Amino acid sequence: MAAINVMIKSTGSYLPEKVLSNKDLENIVDTTDEWITTRTGIKTRRLAAEDEATSDLAFEAAKVALQRAEISPEEVDLIIVGTISPDNFFPSTGCLVQNKLGAKNAVAMDINAACSGYLFSLVIASRLLDGGNYKNALIIGAEKLSSFVNWEDRATCVLFADGAGASVLVPSNGESRLLAFDLGSDGSYGKDLLVPAGGSRQPATIETVEQKLHSIVMNGNAIFKIAVNKMRETFTKSMEKAGVTVDDISLVIPHQANLRIIESLRNFLKLPKEKVFVNIEKYGNTSAASIGIALDEAHQQGIIKRGDIIGLTAFGGGLTWGSAIIKF
Ligand code: ACO
Repeated sequence: MAAINVMIKSTGSYLPEKVLSNKDLENIVDTTDEWITTRTGIKTRRLAAEDEATSDLAFEAAKVALQRAEISPEEVDLIIVGTISPDNFFPSTGCLVQNKLGAKNAVAMDINAACSGYLFSLVIASRLLDGGNYKNALIIGAEKLSSFVNWEDRATCVLFADGAGASVLVPSNGESRLLAFDLGSDGSYGKDLLVPAGGSRQPATIETVEQKLHSIVMNGNAIFKIAVNKMRETFTKSMEKAGVTVDDISLVIPHQANLRIIESLRNFLKLPKEKVFVNIEKYGNTSAASIGIALDEAHQQGIIKRGDIIGLTAFGGGLTWGSAIIKF
């Protein structure tokens, strides 16, 4: 596949202040630090304040990314927010962020691809930039999943968390490029990870609230197996399309859903620990935000440098999955 001449110019992220530890969760549901650590790799996660919504988290991450790119809000052409926890069904969180930033010349939208949201946004924005219609794009993965968690369900409330990761994309005429990508979906697994009520299928009623049908319901075992297979498959496809092997890749940034899923991918790719970025122990599963946050941390820590070939991969509700190979 031909490379897309678009580069990630800058990154930014925002994690809310409040830290919820596994020990804290022991006081909320019937769980233990030991169970959560060994089954998921998570030790702590961040929770947004009551008056902080997804667009607020996205706004904070976006401000940092724009500042680092030295682009003013008025100059932004395109805003895409990947999220499954929007402030409202509509307007889109993209429009809310546009307004907060004062990015009045940007077209703004949301992408609902669950944990693949950052990757889907990256590919869509890159294609639009490559078409020559826009000079820059701001992509943001942002979630306040704590608003959609059933705090009585120990199987899910220990996993999901809040945060935002943003990147500024610009056309490139140098070496930095999106070398290849692969995206996929399979709606037949939609029933295994969803928020059952609140949409047109099952509008909100007193009963849906009482039955906690406005929160995430997940068949963890089913998702686990598909996630492992799909991440292996999609990452291999992207490497083939890019014409690279694992030896060419300096860092893989996988979606941070479960350390065991990440380790399974690492073993499959036969990569040493230092070549796979992991921060799940600090932040839990922030869905669409996780790759954007991880990319920003890896960049700020100097783990990735200009010219490095990096790989991104994710899977999420829908189901959706994807990967990208980037010459950073
Ligand atoms: N504390 C203690 N025990 C627990 C907890 C908990 N927090 N949660 C579940 N258990 C119990 C179960 O009740 C079960 O008990 P039982 O054997 O008596 O029935 C036992 O632990 C084992 O449960 P499993 O579900 O089989 O545990 P598993 O090892 O599969 O881990 C997990 C569960 C962590 C959810 C795992 O399946 C997973 O990570 N799946 C992938 C989920 C995922 O990544 N989802 C996000 C996708 S991204 C997105 O789009 C939002």
